Amino acid sequence: MGATPLQVNEIDAGGHPVVLGDDALKQLDHTLSRAGHTSLFVLGDENTLRHCLPELLAHVPALRQARTISVQSGERAKDIAVCSDIWGHLTKEAADRDAILVCLGGGVISDLGGFVAGTYKRGIRWVVVPTSLIGMVDAAIGGKTGVDLGGVKNLVGVFHDPIGVYVHIPFLRSLGKRDLLNGLAEMIKHGLVRDAAHWKAICKAPLHDLKALNELVQRSAAIKAEVVKLDPREKDLRKVLNFGHTIGHGLEAHSWESPQRMLLHGEAVAIGMICEAWLSFREGFLERDLYELIAKQLMGLYKPYQYHSAEHHRMVELMRNDKKNKGGEFRFTMLTGIGSAKVDVPISALQVQAALEHYRLLIRNGAQV
Ligand SMILES: NC(=O)c1ccc[n+]([C@@H]2O[C@H](COP(=O)([O-])OP(=O)(O)OC[C@H]3O[C@@H](n4cnc5c(N)ncnc54)[C@H](O)[C@@H]3O)[C@@H](O)[C@H]2O)c1
Ligand SMILES: [Zn+2]
Repeated sequence: MGATPLQVNEIDAGGHPVVLGDDALKQLDHTLSRAGHTSLFVLGDENTLRHCLPELLAHVPALRQARTISVQSGERAKDIAVCSDIWGHLTKEAADRDAILVCLGGGVISDLGGFVAGTYKRGIRWVVVPTSLIGMVDAAIGGKTGVDLGGVKNLVGVFHDPIGVYVHIPFLRSLGKRDLLNGLAEMIKHGLVRDAAHWKAICKAPLHDLKALNELVQRSAAIKAEVVKLDPREKDLRKVLNFGHTIGHGLEAHSWESPQRMLLHGEAVAIGMICEAWLSFREGFLERDLYELIAKQLMGLYKPYQYHSAEHHRMVELMRNDKKNKGGEFRFTMLTGIGSAKVDVPISALQVQAALEHYRLLIRNGAQV
């Protein structure tokens, strides 16, 4: 009798596969068993090690000898001092160039772990097992890794493809509603820039129903993988995925300066998408009714972020270091419809401020789009 075929759906993201389906972790076990490594490490934070590691070890016997490295949860772990600790830990454990680092966590763990793996001894192999929704549909896919520096998002990083991304949907069971909505923002983005039908399906997404969410995760992961495959080094097409992120990253970094109103990445991107959809309309790329539809949907899902006009200047300053800018000029991804976008559109600081003011008034006036 032959072995039963694994129930997996493998998507090609160019530099690595994204493996989804009931047996994704079994496939990881096969891959690790044949990887010819000298040592294995699992990197996670206190939440992912508590909620997900036991299930991972149950499905992946090849990892039972692995040593675990724990960092504190949250964006603050994307820091060069934390990298230094992990590099030190790997050295102490005599990890050589045939060691493999398995990143078990959300986008913070894959961004941080991928960067550590991409730089330790000029690059060791790594694997991602995403545990948050954002990780499964976006952050884990595409080999973009990095950490924050001086209050600026993702300032230091490398492209370093993992061996593979292994998506196990049941890990989402221990996520709260806020973290699910956080991931939903990136899925909304995928629909807005590439696939109108996906956007429509997401608008009705039952967050509590993992079975229904499963299909949407597969589609979002496929959109991300397809874009990354066509443009791995973000020369052109991959920039569509930055929709909502120029203003979003500025707002996210701005929120770190007053911890009582800290925004999660997806929450900041959701507001960024409202502002950038408005800019798309003002610049003549997007019809007004489509902008209104998008803003209404996002306003209904995400809590408002309050600020004064006097803070626009600081927000714009935080956006200036964005890697997408060219020669000191802002470059934005603009929507041209629901499901299509145009990249590299020059936008002035004044226009960005107008978008921030538009959003400020929008929430002050009780979300009358
Ligand atoms: N590299 C990329 O292409 C890319 C794309 C999108 C986002 N990102 C980055 O991803 C980060 C945001 O991702 P995130 O929201 O996943 O961050 P995260 O890793 O901080 O996870 C969010 C929270 O959920 C917890 N968590 C994760 N999985 C859990 C589980 N299964 N059960 C219980 N708790 C769990 C974590 O401990 C953390 O507290 C940002 O830093 C963003 O810049 C990167
Ligand atoms: Zn993002």
